Amino acid sequence: MSGKTVTCIGAGYVGGVTMAVIAAKCPDYKVLVTDIDEEKIKRWNTDDLPIYEPGLLETVQKARGRNLFYLTDVKSCIKEADIIFVSVNTPTKTFGEGAGKCVDLQYWEKTARDILESSDRGKIVVEKSTLPVKTAEAMKKILESNKKSLKFEVISNPEFLAEGTAIADLETPDRVLIGSSQTKEALAARDEIVRIYEHWVPSEKIVTSNIWSSELSKLIANAFLAQRISSINSITPLCEATGADISEISKAVGLDTRIGGRFLSPSVGFGGSCFKKDILNLVYICESYSLKETAEYWENVLKINEYQQERFFLKMLRTMFNTMAGKKIAVFGLSFKADTDDTRESPSIYLVKKLLAEKAQVALTDPKALRNAFWAFGDDAEKIELFEDPYKAAENAHAIAVVTEWEVYKKLDYERIFGKMSQPSFIFDGRNILDGEKLHKIGFSFFALGKPPLIRD
Ligand SMILES: NC(=O)c1ccc[n+]([C@@H]2O[C@H](COP(=O)([O-])OP(=O)(O)OC[C@H]3O[C@@H](n4cnc5c(N)ncnc54)[C@H](O)[C@@H]3O)[C@@H](O)[C@H]2O)c1
Repeated sequence: MSGKTVTCIGAGYVGGVTMAVIAAKCPDYKVLVTDIDEEKIKRWNTDDLPIYEPGLLETVQKARGRNLFYLTDVKSCIKEADIIFVSVNTPTKTFGEGAGKCVDLQYWEKTARDILESSDRGKIVVEKSTLPVKTAEAMKKILESNKKSLKFEVISNPEFLAEGTAIADLETPDRVLIGSSQTKEALAARDEIVRIYEHWVPSEKIVTSNIWSSELSKLIANAFLAQRISSINSITPLCEATGADISEISKAVGLDTRIGGRFLSPSVGFGGSCFKKDILNLVYICESYSLKETAEYWENVLKINEYQQERFFLKMLRTMFNTMAGKKIAVFGLSFKADTDDTRESPSIYLVKKLLAEKAQVALTDPKALRNAFWAFGDDAEKIELFEDPYKAAENAHAIAVVTEWEVYKKLDYERIFGKMSQPSFIFDGRNILDGEKLHKIGFSFFALGKPPLIRD
């Protein structure tokens, strides 16, 4: 029995979910999850959780009330803790020096000061948020600025979960990375964190490293994933220009074991709260070390993503005779990917805003994310019709744009949908998930990415 108390500050997509898994796997630890957002904590204590993630509710139910507690009193959660995971948001800065590129560390620094203020003994502080390399140094400086002679050890343990598969990713991770400095005390603190994961993760998958490598690895892992998406997306216009088919290319290229087949599906572009923010941060760090070429290389990953989103919209506009005014467009999908309700940086938001600017009438449908529509669109939300039911969204529409790869969109009765749409009817498949030949036979003009269009006369 460890008898230890773990506190997590920040009950968002990462903190709320990782701690549920840690508590479920480690009944000998008491796990407290705390947040300044009281409404969020209230929902963590009901079965209407604040986020949607397959398998999450079952995991929470296993441990909640036993050794897992979601609480609003940040101070007493800090006080009680032996180990503190910090999982607060680290968005891109929107003001001052580095605006639009570097990370806004205000939430992070506030947490460091809260920890210091509410602690009456030394603790292990674990960076779970994604942070610029060298942040641990600043954290340690703040924590050591205390007059109480308290000793803190700062450990880096970045999170590699992907939304939509978070529970599976946490239960059977590819690896768990734990970085520390190399002093005797830091190594002992690192081993404490290793012991938590050893409850369910095979030891060969628990990787330790120096603290700067750990911080930087997270940024680089996200940059590589985003780069793969931009790489395949960058080939889609070339396919469209030449008659090559991107699916055949993905297969041929992915069968090379040196390359591998994953992350080779073309799309309308990546979204989510992390890829763009982390690459911007990487670019900013490179620039601050005068590494211009490296910065430019990674910046291009983002440029291709913007280009792909813009290209998708322009294809719709040009195909629909260069005017959208007054036309109803059904947008299938608001979340940035399937199996999550997270809409942060979703390509759907970009597309809908462009359609509204063209004075189109937008009908938006999504199985899980509609409750975030007001957050996603602000005042523009009032100009959009929201539908739980995709059939209703498509009624009288001139076109459907598939933006999120929800399984449900593959299985709809498109014959029924076609019968109730305005003619000519268009489908723009921004995820290449639909059977174009079949839809063409039904009567649609069909457009996928990186494939010859299937146009009805
Ligand atoms: N979302 C992902 O898929 C993912 C994956 C890996 C890593 N990360 C990283 O994890 C971190 C958190 O991401 P997220 O998606 O969970 O963010 P989030 O916005 O969902 O959650 C962050 C939470 O921290 C809370 N918070 C902020 N300041 C606080 C304070 N001083 N005290 C208590 N609570 C406070 C906020 O209220 C919010 O609920 C980020 O650094 C992100 O880059 C995210």
